[in-house]
Amino acid sequence: MQSVLITGGAGFIGQNLVHAWRAAQPADRLTIVDAMTYAANVRSLEPLIADRSIEFVKGDIGDAALMQRLFDEHKFSRVAHLAAESHVDRSISDPEAFLQTNVLGTFTLLKTALDFWRAAAMLDTARFLHVSTDEVYGSLGPADPAFTESSPYRPNSPYAASKASSDHLVRAFVATYGMPALITNCSNNYGPYQHPEKLIPLMIIHALEGKPLPVYGDGSNVRDWLHVSDHCDALMNVIERGRTGETYNVGGGNERNNRDVVGLICDTIDAAFASDTRLAARFPTCPAAAAGSCRTLITYVTDRPGHDHRYAIDATKLATELGSRCKVDFERGLKQTVQWYLDHETWWRDVTSGAYKAWIDKNYGFRRAV
Ligand code: NAD
Ligand code: DAU
Repeated sequence: MQSVLITGGAGFIGQNLVHAWRAAQPADRLTIVDAMTYAANVRSLEPLIADRSIEFVKGDIGDAALMQRLFDEHKFSRVAHLAAESHVDRSISDPEAFLQTNVLGTFTLLKTALDFWRAAAMLDTARFLHVSTDEVYGSLGPADPAFTESSPYRPNSPYAASKASSDHLVRAFVATYGMPALITNCSNNYGPYQHPEKLIPLMIIHALEGKPLPVYGDGSNVRDWLHVSDHCDALMNVIERGRTGETYNVGGGNERNNRDVVGLICDTIDAAFASDTRLAARFPTCPAAAAGSCRTLITYVTDRPGHDHRYAIDATKLATELGSRCKVDFERGLKQTVQWYLDHETWWRDVTSGAYKAWIDKNYGFRRAV
């Protein structure tokens, strides 16, 4: 039985990880700390909060006093650190929060964990998993080999630079202080609970509402798509069985350019409308409601500044050392994801309208930082 801290547990991957951890290790005590930024949502965690199978704390990882109090109270032996500002476009227009949370927040959390584990003589048994991104490695050309754990760091966006900085801090804590930390660098995730600012949910929701589907540049940029459930399985494996001080790349082996991904989303929605006639009444402005194609909505727009052309992950180390391999086929995972957004219309309408944020700020009575 472990006492586990999951930071950013109300975010997209965090929520999925909380559910996966609960199912895999029901005896563990889970504490979630999340600042509840615009990207957070606790709806899926509410039943677990209500029956006390997790403890939820609204708080900032950069709040040293709060972090120390949580460590003293819960004596965490595992930390899965996911809290971050995560959206590249936001980092371009407003980079400061990225430095605050991703760099300084990570530093505060690392220092608190190190001090606590030293004092409690837990450095040999505790583990800190820093969840990071393939974006730290920069951009690949079409014929370049995929990123390995020894690829050089060449971040191109303020987001990627902030994550690279945090990775370097983790490495420095390992080398200098013997911090029992591990790093994962992962490719693009997709699946349930992803915020509608990211490519796949944005395109699904816009298509359902009959809005333009804004593809940046010429849509030739390539991402390596990984279903969030495969990512969570890998994270749980790495934190328990990975070698401390090591980095593990996590990827989906699913390289696709954005044009193809958006086209596939359109075709999947068209097929869903063809097989379920009730959808036309729910989404009358979707072209598929009148037997048209969502592809007619695809609109090429100004490119993202510094837009990385291609990411690809070589996940050999994870597979050979720890036996983690992704299981979800991309076409199947995308179809399930489209179905999830069709089945959770209230969830995304609340998020896109801001209703969820207004409600959570006003009403929700979970424990707050003091
Ligand atoms: P997300 O934006 O959906 O969630 C991030 C969560 O962190 C939110 O709930 C937010 O409220 C919380 N948070 C932000 N600032 C905080 C602070 N100062 N203190 C406490 N909580 C704070 O992000 P995600 O997509 O779930 O990503 C989670 C982690 O995985 C991030 O570290 C990200 O860099 C990394 N990652 C994401 C992907 C991806 O494709 N989504 C891929 C590789 C790595
Ligand atoms: O690679 C891992 C990273 O993946 C994570 O570290 C980040 O947290 C996560 O946000 C994601 O970053 P990307 O920038 O790759 O994801 P995003 O969904 O924003 O964009 C995916 C691709 O789609 C990218 O090439 C930009 C493009 N795009 C995105 C949006 C939102 C569009 O063409 N149109 C859009 O409207």
